[in-house]
Amino acid sequence: MNDAYLLIEQSKYLEGTLEVSGAKNAALPLMAATILTEEPCIIRNVPNLLDIKNMIELLSDMGKRIILENSTLYIEGPILNKETREDIVRKMRASVLVMGPLIARYKSGKVSMPGGCSIGARPIDQHLKAAKRMGVNIDIEQGFINLNATYLNPIDFRFDMITVTGTENVFCMLSTVEQESFVRNIALEPEVINLVEALKQMGVFIEIDKPNRTASIKGTRYLKGFDIEVIPDRIEAGTFMVLALATGSKIKIVNLDVNHIESVLEKLEIAGAKIDILSPDSVLVYPKSEKINPLYIETLEYPGFPTDMQAQFMSLLSMADGESTIVENIFENRFQHAQELARMGACITIHSKTAYVKGVKHLKGAEVFSTDLRASAGLVVAGLMAEGKSIIRNIYHLDRGYDHIEQKLEKIGAKIKRINP
Ligand code: EPU
Repeated sequence: MNDAYLLIEQSKYLEGTLEVSGAKNAALPLMAATILTEEPCIIRNVPNLLDIKNMIELLSDMGKRIILENSTLYIEGPILNKETREDIVRKMRASVLVMGPLIARYKSGKVSMPGGCSIGARPIDQHLKAAKRMGVNIDIEQGFINLNATYLNPIDFRFDMITVTGTENVFCMLSTVEQESFVRNIALEPEVINLVEALKQMGVFIEIDKPNRTASIKGTRYLKGFDIEVIPDRIEAGTFMVLALATGSKIKIVNLDVNHIESVLEKLEIAGAKIDILSPDSVLVYPKSEKINPLYIETLEYPGFPTDMQAQFMSLLSMADGESTIVENIFENRFQHAQELARMGACITIHSKTAYVKGVKHLKGAEVFSTDLRASAGLVVAGLMAEGKSIIRNIYHLDRGYDHIEQKLEKIGAKIKRINP
């Protein structure tokens, strides 16, 4: 954590190309999955982010040998210490992803219990329920989860709710169980599918029945290494698209996967964006007119509209021509950016999980505080739209998930600077 902040000035009619990095939420489970084997694993297109550095530190501390060269990670070797470092888990909830691989490979582990975070309580009861069903003894003591099993049973397990890291953890847990298991009500996010591809390379048989949200899995006792490319970050791509419409700019966005962001494209087009799909991995986004149309948005599990894009759209819609409604169904406390946007002149009313955003003609620059990763991205969008200067503080949140966003945006003419006091 440091005191760096972003200084942003209104920036309109930008033009240029923005390149999307690899997805943080795909890279992290792939890194954790290397625990499943001692063989070398290669992960390509890894973004340069704080969360990735934290995961490297966590795995190195557990004994993995790791080299990061350009954007490729080489990870190999055994786990010598099956206990996760509490200070890293505190910084990064995704540390919980090491639990599934530790159970599968070593039938034991000691994982620091992730606490709640600013966007919600975020329990991991579903991860633990599946582990228990497999025969894992779970003992929670002094903020740590002690995991131990003598034998791992196959399961027919149904998640009570759809969980992304829960699905990833359970797939990894089952990767050494040779009899067939069924996992139902699974998450189908592209990041989950990226992990499935790696597990398949390792020798696990996984079949995903997408319409029924069910996976059948047959593991294998000996897992091989893998060589995989991290999928493009659909949330970074979506953030750039929102930014194009918000600032009246014409931006080419490259290295994305258009198939992963259909729900976002649909909303942006209604809001007034023209999106030319140039190829499966590049688009040109620009506004159809000066007007931003209001929207009705409900966040849902993939392929629905992503909760990780909600804050950026709220900023955009705060200058729409009319009232928008945003329903947040995934996390119970993910509207904290609304009060920061209000400091810039936005008119937002919140009733439980619904935000009503009445468009205003102008936003005014202000000093605002990031409360979580995507909230900070929303504030960057607002800062570029607002008249005058804005200061965004607590940008360590932003650094967790955006690969040098200010450098990327500066290149296309945006007035945005990182200040390190
Ligand atoms: N939930 C439970 N019990 C569980 C698991 C989840 O009640 O055992 C609840 C959560 O509290 C939440 C909902 O289920 O209300 C969905 O949570 P999920 O488990 O899907 O979230 P996650 O796996 O912890 C991942 C991403 C998040 C993203 C969400 C939703 C990673 C590392 N994180 O979190 O990304 O918002 O899925 O798509 O993959 C971000 O990148 O900014 C971010 C927060």
